[in-house]
Amino acid sequence: MAAPGGSGPIGPYPPGVTTDEEQVEYDKLRRRVLWSMPYGLYVVGSRGAAGADGPPELNGMTTNWVTQVSFDPKLIGIGVEKPALTHRLIGEGGVFSVCTIAREDRTIVRKFTKPVEVDHDARTLNGFAFHAGVTGAPILDQAPAYVDCEVRQAVEVGNHTFFIGEVVDAAFQADEETEVLRMEDTRMNYGG
Ligand SMILES: Cc1cc2nc3c(=O)[nH]c(=O)nc-3n(C[C@H](O)[C@H](O)[C@H](O)COP(=O)(O)O)c2cc1C
Repeated sequence: MAAPGGSGPIGPYPPGVTTDEEQVEYDKLRRRVLWSMPYGLYVVGSRGAAGADGPPELNGMTTNWVTQVSFDPKLIGIGVEKPALTHRLIGEGGVFSVCTIAREDRTIVRKFTKPVEVDHDARTLNGFAFHAGVTGAPILDQAPAYVDCEVRQAVEVGNHTFFIGEVVDAAFQADEETEVLRMEDTRMNYGG
């Protein structure tokens, strides 16, 4: 995972912020402002291209940069850092899923911050049961809801790619009223 907010102070700076010290202070302040923006928290499922030999590579990744970007067609965008395995798999496979997480399952997000261990026979990702969506992207069985998407655009944005996918399937897997996890329910943050 990239260092939060990059490796050092990043410009541009507003008027009056000129010395190294002021730039460092402003950088920290801007990070806190960006962290104060509310987000949801999801597990994004990805699969690589189907290989001739063996099953396709799969992954699940804790992600908060997720938003709907059009209602006709139904498009969802996700920001994925370039070094991530998920980035390569979405690039190859052209699909992804977005799973919501029940608030009571909050510890799950810590299990999806690096490439997962996939057991194709037991159908588990890091021990969590999954099934393949219509796109072949993995969907956690315990996700209260999911959307399954085909990539329509990949927009280069700095050190991330914003993958925009059309929702080709969506469903609840638990009671619709299940409370889903948001970033503020954890002590974690990302970006900034
Ligand atoms: C709370 C939290 C939110 C995260 N949100 C994102 C995100 O929106 N986009 C992203 O690329 N990585 C995000 N990450 C980092 C990834 O979960 C992961 O550490 C990294 O990208 C590597 O994923 P990989 O398994 O695909 O290699 C987040 C991590 C945490 C702990």
